[in-house]
Amino acid sequence: MTPDFVRNRALVTGCAGFIGSHLCERLVRDGHDVIGVDCFTDYYAREIKESNIKWLKEQSNFIFCEANLLDTDLLKLMAAVDVVFHQAAQAGVRASWGKDFRIYAENNVLATQLLLEAAKEVDLNKFIYASSSSVYGDAETYPTAEDLKPMPISPYGVSKLAGEHLCALYHRNFGVPAISLRYFTVYGPRQRPDMAFHKFIKAMLRDQEVVVFGDGNQTRDFTYINDIVEANVLAMNSEAAGEIFNIGGGSRVTVREIITIMEHILVKKANVRHIENQRGDVRHTAADITKARSRLKYEPKFDLQMGIANEINWLRTFQTEILDT
Ligand SMILES: NC(=O)c1ccc[n+]([C@@H]2O[C@H](COP(=O)([O-])OP(=O)(O)OC[C@H]3O[C@@H](n4cnc5c(N)ncnc54)[C@H](O)[C@@H]3O)[C@@H](O)[C@H]2O)c1
Repeated sequence: MTPDFVRNRALVTGCAGFIGSHLCERLVRDGHDVIGVDCFTDYYAREIKESNIKWLKEQSNFIFCEANLLDTDLLKLMAAVDVVFHQAAQAGVRASWGKDFRIYAENNVLATQLLLEAAKEVDLNKFIYASSSSVYGDAETYPTAEDLKPMPISPYGVSKLAGEHLCALYHRNFGVPAISLRYFTVYGPRQRPDMAFHKFIKAMLRDQEVVVFGDGNQTRDFTYINDIVEANVLAMNSEAAGEIFNIGGGSRVTVREIITIMEHILVKKANVRHIENQRGDVRHTAADITKARSRLKYEPKFDLQMGIANEINWLRTFQTEILDT
């Protein structure tokens, strides 16, 4: 630890999820005191989330609280906290249509508002909200900068944008030091089972069909999990408040190219089947990270080859536990 190290007390919501669990590990390893809260929503298997926080639960500077943000005493949770990392959400674009939008409205909009209500009553240094590139929809310009008008094309994107607006409102009206980080497609070990890399790798390991939505020429700005975690830590230590930052990985590639990288690493050909595009999926994403670079000193460090190899190794190791879920 450096002499000027500041030991923070952090609350991480959604701590048992893909991103939340990595973020907690980094904070705990760095010597911060962390309270993690999660209610194990049924979006994917509880066993996976339990395994995500297995190591954390053994650490003396980590406290796990199984609770739903919608019906727990948030003021109590936040009473002795300096920083809130709000990662909890109902993720996934495709499932956000129809009657399930209620789940998105509750977990993404209402839960964020309840947290911000509590945040305005306590003395926080930072409230960091996990937003999403999905707020842009089919953007007019690529790479896309933060000042482009957001036009989500999925109910999920609408719910994440509503969360951002709430953060801005609570900053303006009550001085909550909230900032939003717009993550661009995150990948790496523990990636959610509904996400493309996870599904592609799982199928290739089992010699099954790799199902691709559309023609495979859609592009994404893929961001490795460690870069996302680093962005959160930089945001925690920054002076920024009331602002929005794109957090991308710096490499925009097509889904076809991703499969080629996987084929090289796994030394096998993918059996690809194309099906129709899904409603709510954007055609392209590309982050302009100029602002995060200059204000947060954020610089993505992980390239796709290394990142995908790490996700493959993780899925191989956990395949007996996870591949069947
Ligand atoms: N993974 C990505 O590529 C990506 C991209 C952009 C934005 N995001 C955002 O990042 C955050 C984390 O995403 P993830 O991929 O780790 O998802 P995840 O589903 O793995 O993790 C979210 C966690 O939040 C928990 N949760 C949800 N509602 C809750 C509630 N009401 N109370 C307590 N816990 C609750 C869930 O049980 C889950 O463990 C989300 O806010 C998501 O919108 C993710």
